Amino acid sequence: MGRARIPLCVVGCGGMGQRHILGYKELEKSGISNVEVVAVCDVREENAQLGAREVERLFGRKPMIFTDLDQVIGNRDVAAVDVVTDPSTHHAVAIPCLEAGKHALVEKPLGITIRACQAMIDAAKRGSVVLATAENLRRDIPNRLARSILDHGLLGPVFVMFHNAFGGTDRIIITPWRHLKEKGAIGLDMAVHYTDIVQYYLGEFDEIYGCGLIAEPIRRRAPQPELQLESYLERFRRMPETVEATGEDSVIALYRMKSGAMVQFTYIPSGRGMNHFDRTVHGRMGTMVAPGDRNGRPVIVRLPGQELKGKDILPLLPGFQLDEVTERLFGPRAVEYQLPFPAIDGGHLAIEMHDFAAAILAGRSPEVNGYHGMTAVAAIYGAYESARIGRSVKMAELLSGEIRGYQEEIDAALGFA
Ligand SMILES: NC(=O)c1ccc[n+]([C@@H]2O[C@H](COP(=O)([O-])OP(=O)(O)OC[C@H]3O[C@@H](n4cnc5c(N)ncnc54)[C@H](O)[C@@H]3O)[C@@H](O)[C@H]2O)c1
Repeated sequence: MGRARIPLCVVGCGGMGQRHILGYKELEKSGISNVEVVAVCDVREENAQLGAREVERLFGRKPMIFTDLDQVIGNRDVAAVDVVTDPSTHHAVAIPCLEAGKHALVEKPLGITIRACQAMIDAAKRGSVVLATAENLRRDIPNRLARSILDHGLLGPVFVMFHNAFGGTDRIIITPWRHLKEKGAIGLDMAVHYTDIVQYYLGEFDEIYGCGLIAEPIRRRAPQPELQLESYLERFRRMPETVEATGEDSVIALYRMKSGAMVQFTYIPSGRGMNHFDRTVHGRMGTMVAPGDRNGRPVIVRLPGQELKGKDILPLLPGFQLDEVTERLFGPRAVEYQLPFPAIDGGHLAIEMHDFAAAILAGRSPEVNGYHGMTAVAAIYGAYESARIGRSVKMAELLSGEIRGYQEEIDAALGFA
């Protein structure tokens, strides 16, 4: 008997859509795939064709090709959608699918306002289907190890986390939409990965103070695309020389978590002369230095009189366990790796995809559900909203919609006024 597989349509075959198709291939390689890509959809016919060619090349069979979402919604052979469109369209794609009873895995940021996220969560409830947020960075095995270190209480009571990433140039970051407020600017698009890491490590956010800023008002075309994938090259050929930024590229925040721990958080993809990244957690008994994402370097734990790295920490973590797909792709109880980027990236995507389909098959919540996707988004807007009203804001005030002045304009553009 073969394993049950969820027949799925990849909606959005741009840069990340192509990477998702590679992710499904990685999942296939694990030997326990629970998904089958039966269709692709993109409003740009050439991107839909590109996605279809990728599926055929990797899986040896032609998927159905759609350029209109209604065709996907009306197709009984599609049980789930993988929404990899640009963020300002996530809700418009996901909501009718969810309402029609199709499960949805939606790329981060789940939506580009809290209302958009909530509307997707409500639609999933109405359709009685699974809504998952595609959040890949937490699947990295050093992050799995970091979480286990915290769960085992190795650091004692945690009182502070530092999460700072800064340094960059005035280059357009991947696409023009990543610099536009009403499209989901990079201050949200990238930093939302990091707010997810904060909640993955430390639990729920309680209170937020901070601000957003546009560090680079004019962004210029990079000399070459980030990846040599056909979809990246295609996008690059259409890139304008300059983009005037209307959305924040940066966020600076101070978070109080429900646990009482404080987090100092910075994401600024600008500033010449220095690239800096730190992710450290400090408890009364020790400190943890996490290596960042997708580099496979060891987590370091400093306890009184000793420093432990990577696999040397494992004897202190009897409960450390990776899920089956992670073990098959990265190795049993693996905590470090040296792999090329496509294997790392595809591996992380495979893990999130498998969890999504497993959640559908088991009727359980996925690891990163709609609520988690929404709170990661709200943690960014909390910083912008707090600067706007001149005080710290509670996560509860953001989620209830009591405080949303910064997002009003975006909501109006999305039709959520
Ligand atoms: N997790 C990660 O590591 C990671 C990395 C890059 C991008 N992403 C996310 O992936 C998503 C897509 O980003 P991208 O860089 O691929 O963007 P992109 O602009 O390259 O591609 C978006 C694609 O969606 C298509 N599209 C737009 N509206 C559509 C609709 N209504 N129906 C069907 N197709 C539609 C576009 O034609 C385009 O081909 C974003 O949410 C982004 O944040 C995640």
